[in-house]
Amino acid sequence: MRNWAAIPAACAAILLAAGNKPEEQVRFLAEGEAKMVVARRCASCHTAGNFTKFRKDEAGWEQVMGDMANRGAEIPDDDYDGIVAYLVRNYGPSAKLVINRAPVEEVGKLLELSKEQAKAVVAWREANGAFRSLEDLVKVPGLDARKLEPKREMLAF
Ligand code: HEC
Repeated sequence: MRNWAAIPAACAAILLAAGNKPEEQVRFLAEGEAKMVVARRCASCHTAGNFTKFRKDEAGWEQVMGDMANRGAEIPDDDYDGIVAYLVRNYGPSAKLVINRAPVEEVGKLLELSKEQAKAVVAWREANGAFRSLEDLVKVPGLDARKLEPKREMLAF
């Protein structure tokens, strides 16, 4: 692309085309006081799965906050600490996978599933209601119970 000035406009167009609405992303975020603020501040340019699929410590999430500010995220001082605390608590190094809320990207990455399998997990949940145990999870067509068994401790229902 020779017209460098067009790049930001093209990026904005891509983001708009994604049609991502923060209020539709709230259901994919772990419960917690800052859930709405995080949806508003962090799930407007991209979906919640873009960040919930990671597990980072406080320094790691603070680094992300800085990166996002550089990309144009507006994070008022009043919201900053609450967002970091929420991210560390719910998406910290040993945070569980909340299987009844997690978006496709997070389910896929943490359970080491293909995108199709991860989509099937979320679709099953939306059709049949909450999973109550690993035994429910293996009912999802295409999932391999033996591969899920080692993930048992990581799951929260
Ligand atoms: C102004 C738009 C914007 C906002 C608001 C925003 N981001 Fe991002 N974010 C981006 C862009 C652009 C990328 C890179 C492309 C992508 O991964 O979609 C990105 C990528 C990411 C990544 C992936 C980085 C990687 O290594 O793959 C994480 C994690 C992330 N954002 C977290 C957050 C969090 C947490 C917030 C809220 C504090 C937030 N973002 C708010 C624009 C934004």
